[in-house]
Amino acid sequence: MTRRHRVAHVDELPTNGSRVIADINGLEVAIFRVDDEFHAVANYCIHQGGPLCEGEIDGRVSVTDDGWTWEYDETPKHIRCPWHGWMFDVTTGKNDDAEQYAVPTYDVEVDDEEIFIVRG
Ligand code: FES
Repeated sequence: MTRRHRVAHVDELPTNGSRVIADINGLEVAIFRVDDEFHAVANYCIHQGGPLCEGEIDGRVSVTDDGWTWEYDETPKHIRCPWHGWMFDVTTGKNDDAEQYAVPTYDVEVDDEEIFIVRG
């Protein structure tokens, strides 16, 4: 059975990179605002179980496919785990350096400016 859980009002996430961490029946989930969309990620790092979503969120420098050109993505969507620094894209849950590693993500619905996580 799928359930919706109210986690915040949109006013609680006023700017790009804002976050709210909610407890849903013992599961901590963070909601992030990125480019006026909302994304939900488990507050759990797959490395050693650190509180991933309590880390800093920022843009990211990376290297293009040719291996020579630096690119800076200034969108604040890369969360850095406060324990050992692993970074994840909060819009996909994928690790920035190894996409085969990912943290759980959840569907988000906005209804009358209230934000809900949809979870089975
Ligand atoms: S627990 Fe997150 S990087 Fe180690």
